[in-house]
Amino acid sequence: MNTRPNLAIFGAPRAFDTPLPVGQLYFPSWERYERAFRGIFERQYYNNNGPLHEQLECRLREFFGVKHVLLVSNATLGLMMVADALELTGKVLMPAFTFIASAQSVSRAGLAPLFCDINRNTHQIDVDQIVRRMDEEVSAIMGVNLWGGTCQPQILEKLANTLGVKLYFDSAHAFGCAIEEGKIGRFGQAEVFSFHATKILNASEGGCICTNDDDLALRLRSIRPSYRESTPLVPVVRVANARMSEAQAAVALMSLEDFPENRANNEKLYRLYECRLRDIPGIRLVEPAQVLVSNYQYLICEIDEVRFGLSRDQLLEVLKAENVIARRYFYPGLHRCIPYANDSRFCTEPLIHTDELCHSCLQLPIGARVSAQVVEKIGDILALTQANAKWIGQRIK
Ligand SMILES: Cc1ncc(COP(=O)(O)O)c(C=O)c1O
Repeated sequence: MNTRPNLAIFGAPRAFDTPLPVGQLYFPSWERYERAFRGIFERQYYNNNGPLHEQLECRLREFFGVKHVLLVSNATLGLMMVADALELTGKVLMPAFTFIASAQSVSRAGLAPLFCDINRNTHQIDVDQIVRRMDEEVSAIMGVNLWGGTCQPQILEKLANTLGVKLYFDSAHAFGCAIEEGKIGRFGQAEVFSFHATKILNASEGGCICTNDDDLALRLRSIRPSYRESTPLVPVVRVANARMSEAQAAVALMSLEDFPENRANNEKLYRLYECRLRDIPGIRLVEPAQVLVSNYQYLICEIDEVRFGLSRDQLLEVLKAENVIARRYFYPGLHRCIPYANDSRFCTEPLIHTDELCHSCLQLPIGARVSAQVVEKIGDILALTQANAKWIGQRIK
């Protein structure tokens, strides 16, 4: 072939005029936003368990079917609060294939993460690995429900009981997901969700903790503010300043109302990607694993360098030139990140699947900014790139 492929890295116009991000970014209409914020101004009430805060906690209790929901300013602080409130000691066993916040929340609570590997196919924590890596200093397991799938919380509950350790979940990716045993949010001692703008339930920034344990909820309510409330709940060693404001609650309430529609839109986009990517050699679309209902919050692919003809990182450059801001989520594995790298306290054996996936996993755009035409266009770029992989490879070393 001696004609230049019609791609931006060869000087063709970019496929998209403005950068196309991977996040969900579902916004309510301006009119709804204005109405909600006018109410805040009329009430002159910004913070501290205001009416929207209370309404959101109540709605989420119904949504998840749990006894307690605590709104927090983000999932990272929520995870740290749970580690504190569970009064953990020593180590928390968790996958290394997750976002840095999962591990940093443990470190900030004065504990050490102990990393284990994942299942190569589902990307979720590997139950056999948990058993294998367990040691007497581990006081809890943190399950991570990834990519709108789950790490089989019902199985982890039985395992944690047998091992005599506590269990909690980083469910930042799993809002609105369900397994046969019920909605994600009800498992372990607690589950933590992120309401960051890139997530399907969005408070601009925010999150929540779910638990069915009354004592734990009381300790969490005592940890959440940065000052002693007039009637201190229970004594706690540390407080977190992790309150959610009325403005955040207002955004989340609108997002909760829109959730069914946004979830359905994500699913439709996922199915379109599925059809479009099926025939491109070397790309595998990762299905949300082990769920009855997914939020399809992430569009995750694996790139097989040999079959595709380019590495994942080379493909990222091609996409970036087209203004498709795909991501290598997660890179590197947490066992290779500061402050955990090269330290056997955090990782005792090689994490083969984690390392492999960190080099082949690619996140593509899905959510509010993506339409059927956008999926078509991204599919065209990927197909053209694969067909011209040899030539492109010479250009991008
Ligand atoms: C798996 C996981 N855990 C935790 C977080 C942190 O969430 P937040 O930004 O709400 O602190 C993220 C953020 O994307 C995440 O992907």
